Amino acid sequence: MFRILEKREMAERTVCEFKIEVPDIAKKAQPGQFVVIRANETGERIPLTMAGTDPEAGTINIIFQVVGKTTALLRSLGEGDEIVDIIGPLGVPTHVEKLGTVICVGGGTGVAVMYPITKAYKEAGNHVIAIVGARTKDLLILEEEMKAASHDLRVTTDDGSYGHHGFVTDVLKQILDGGDDVKLVVGIGPVPMMKFLCKMTKEYDVKTVVSLNPIMVDATGMCGACRVSVGGRTRFCCVEGPEFDGHQVDFDELVKRQRAYLTEEKVSMDRFTEQVPE
Ligand SMILES: Cc1cc2nc3c(=O)[nH]c(=O)nc-3n(C[C@H](O)[C@H](O)[C@H](O)COP(=O)(O)OP(=O)(O)OC[C@H]3O[C@@H](n4cnc5c(N)ncnc54)[C@H](O)[C@@H]3O)c2cc1C
Ligand code: FES
Repeated sequence: MFRILEKREMAERTVCEFKIEVPDIAKKAQPGQFVVIRANETGERIPLTMAGTDPEAGTINIIFQVVGKTTALLRSLGEGDEIVDIIGPLGVPTHVEKLGTVICVGGGTGVAVMYPITKAYKEAGNHVIAIVGARTKDLLILEEEMKAASHDLRVTTDDGSYGHHGFVTDVLKQILDGGDDVKLVVGIGPVPMMKFLCKMTKEYDVKTVVSLNPIMVDATGMCGACRVSVGGRTRFCCVEGPEFDGHQVDFDELVKRQRAYLTEEKVSMDRFTEQVPE
């Protein structure tokens, strides 16, 4: 059992952060890695990225958007409550090296996944430009943290309520057009955002890494649920990812596979809300 030490609600209660006591994982985790969580004895397993770790205190932070039954169940927990299972650290850590100028682009809850990666690129001596976006100002997360983790933070909102009015890719295009010698773009967010971002950086011939989020079940490379096509080859995201060369990813297939259980997910969420009304 793993105790929740702190809970923070964000983005109009659509996003939640937990600090959890998991010393063994906190000691080993590296940027880009994730854990698989089972909220209670009958719960399903879901993957969530570690948005932060404190090896000395023995804690990890997870930040999750409430999108269905398990994330709603998790949000219903509070400080002092316990989570039945947490396994990790899983996935290949981000390959961080000193390259020069690196642009880290995070959209929606993808900003939580991007945060430790941005920090790591800065600590490795890169000049880091971060671009974070949300649909509207109240849904923006981790602005202060991303400011500290980068040298230059740009903010966008789809509705213009804060920062640049438009998409993260508009600001990315401005920077790429500015002629900076950008060595790497890292993009993490909703699949349409990553797809469009990769299409753009391909035109500018700038290497681009994305972090993929297919459905995962065992997260140990055995069930095949998380398979994605990269460069025409099948890759298992849980053990070979979650980061891949964005110019090689078949995003359309990823979207189709993510939507495979929409009917079952809706039934499950409806049953949950009947039992536990808001
Ligand atoms: C490596 C990885 C890291 C992730 N990190 C984060 C994170 O830091 N924060 C965050 O908010 N979300 C993260 N996700 C997505 C998160 O796992 C899903 O939002 C969650 O599983 C949804 O479960 P649910 O029961 O609440 O919703 P459901 O209603 O069951 O599903 C909603 C949608 O979430 C996706 N999903 C459902 N089950 C799974 C599953 N077992 N594995 C993966 N995706 C699933 C599907 O696309 C589905 O349509 C990550 C996914 C992966 C693969
Ligand atoms: S989740 Fe089963 S092989 Fe990756």
